[in-house]
Amino acid sequence: MRNSDIAISIKHLSKFYKTFQALDKVSFEVKRGDFFAFLGPNGAGKTTTINVLTGLSNYQSGDVRVFGHDVTSEYLRSRRLIGLCAQEFNFDPFLTIYQLLVYQAEYFGIPPWEAKRRANALLERFQLADKRQCKHRALSSGMKKRLLLCRALIHDPEILILDEPTAGCDLELKFLIWDYLAQLNKEGKTIFLTTHYMEEAERLCKTIGIINRGRIVRIGDKKQILQDKSLEDVFLEITGSE
Ligand SMILES: Nc1ncnc2c1ncn2[C@@H]1O[C@H](COP(=O)(O)OP(=O)(O)OP(=O)(O)O)[C@@H](O)[C@H]1O
Ligand SMILES: [Mg+2]
Repeated sequence: MRNSDIAISIKHLSKFYKTFQALDKVSFEVKRGDFFAFLGPNGAGKTTTINVLTGLSNYQSGDVRVFGHDVTSEYLRSRRLIGLCAQEFNFDPFLTIYQLLVYQAEYFGIPPWEAKRRANALLERFQLADKRQCKHRALSSGMKKRLLLCRALIHDPEILILDEPTAGCDLELKFLIWDYLAQLNKEGKTIFLTTHYMEEAERLCKTIGIINRGRIVRIGDKKQILQDKSLEDVFLEITGSE
């Protein structure tokens, strides 16, 4: 398989926070066009892995690439390929949500007229158009989640990384997000999702990776992993016995 068919490649990744080892020789690949669920209990190392992938965290050893580009030495090239929907809200408090999206697009080199067009289209798509002149503080938590998605999508990235995108969302919003992600994946986007909702992973994903205490404990095709069990049972079996 050519490099470009592998969206994410992580080899022997180890990460320490001072003396605490958060990731221990993590290795796995995500293929172009995959819908990958990255599962694990609280504190397993999911967000840390995402932070390394998106250049937010350093790491002590390993080789981490996005479509063949090293996330450290080719930071700008690799980062541009990723849309990140982070676990925490981290918006500039002084900007309106419209400005926030336009600036994010311009940061990735999109010309102003196109940035404005995309910002308006995404705000419309995620039912935030009537809030476009508000600061993010004035949004409800579910609206902020939608704004995170808009920001992740504004530069039309190849890979979408979503760190618990539906945590705290009501049912209607959850279904809206699920439909949208399924559609994006159908259109060819590679999706990397972390979630604690097993139903979400089971419904949407093609491939599943499970991490526990900084180590990959299972990885493979969803159908192979599930066989005749529910994902919840598989998850509890693996993470409970570690
Ligand atoms: N900035 C930090 N400094 C020190 N330790 C950290 C830091 N960030 C994360 N950790 C530790 O690294 C481990 C992995 O954390 P991480 O946030 O990656 O977990 P997670 O799998 O995303 O969990 P959750 O499901 O709760 O979001 C945890 O033990 C956490 O306490
Ligand atoms: Mg996390």
